[in-house]
Amino acid sequence: MSMDAVRLVEVGARDGLQNEARCLPVDTRVALVERLADCGLRTIEAGAFVSPRWVPQMAGSDEVLRRVGQRPGVTYTALVPNLQGLDMALAAGCREVAVFAAASEAFSQKNINCSIAQSLARFEPVLAKALEQGVAVRGYVSCVLGCPFTGAVPVAQVVAVTQALYAMGCYEISLGDTIGTGTPEATHRLIEACAGSVPVTALAGHFHDTYGMAVANVQAAWQAGVRVFDSSVSGLGGCPYSPGATGNVATEELVYLFEGQGVATGVDLAKLIEVGVFIDSQLQRSGESRVAKALRARIR
Ligand code: HMG
Ligand code: MG
Repeated sequence: MSMDAVRLVEVGARDGLQNEARCLPVDTRVALVERLADCGLRTIEAGAFVSPRWVPQMAGSDEVLRRVGQRPGVTYTALVPNLQGLDMALAAGCREVAVFAAASEAFSQKNINCSIAQSLARFEPVLAKALEQGVAVRGYVSCVLGCPFTGAVPVAQVVAVTQALYAMGCYEISLGDTIGTGTPEATHRLIEACAGSVPVTALAGHFHDTYGMAVANVQAAWQAGVRVFDSSVSGLGGCPYSPGATGNVATEELVYLFEGQGVATGVDLAKLIEVGVFIDSQLQRSGESRVAKALRARIR
């Protein structure tokens, strides 16, 4: 990968679908993941091994992960909140998983029913077991630029959780603006602060577009040295424990942004537009992303 390449982590089949009122059947979720891989996306989060009582949309993730065809160079990953989730992911053949913590105590309680410290303690044996089996672990930090319950989140708190996940063995930490309240300058400051504690190459940006700032925040993080970004096809997404939050930044928008400034994404945008049309029709939604809508009109 050249210096001027970006890696997009497609999270639509997880972060996207987990927030849709309609639960899609496994067949459709497998088709979505396969079609995303056809577009050239190389890291695809395909499910979550969480309690189906908490997030019914992700029930059957074991079947989804088992059924997606293995392809050279493509990594399918899934969320695991604890050892029980990791064991299910390993049984389904996952070679990469993600643990998820928060920078806000209130959000941690609402999302995973424990404190930040308890969650980190819970992740220790998850990391140990995964790494022992050669399974890579990514870490998420939620609420890095604001909490839906308590508002402002101190940068130092984000840095502390990021550092803890990195020290535990997460190869990459995805900084989540869960509710999309961040702005470019705050994003830049946050990345600089985190990059003071972990290598900037170990950071990823995960921006929700609730306030229309996601693309601007991606650009700010890029300028601060981040080269990995999470996104969802057609801007699917949100978080069931984050009232009012809308989707992730649309993958179409990031492909348009980066290719437009000479940065290779490896993604076939015309194919991706078709995948967006497909999943929106399955969910009976029209799609939020202006870029995706404009490109649909132009490309189709
Ligand atoms: P709990 O109730 O505290 O768990 O939930 P527990 O250990 O007391 O177990 C209670 C029951 O859950 C038991 O079943 C367990 O077997 C079961 P019962 O005996 O009552 O029948 N259980 C599980 N089932 C399936 N898979 C598991 C699992 N673990 C226990 N792994 C728990 C704790 C973490 C399980 C729960 O709170 C949970 O599943 N939360 C999921 C929350 C979630 O998925 N949120 C969305 C993803 S995070 C996000 O979107 C943010 C992100 O995108 C970044 C950003 O935008 O900021 C990543
Ligand atoms: Mg998210």
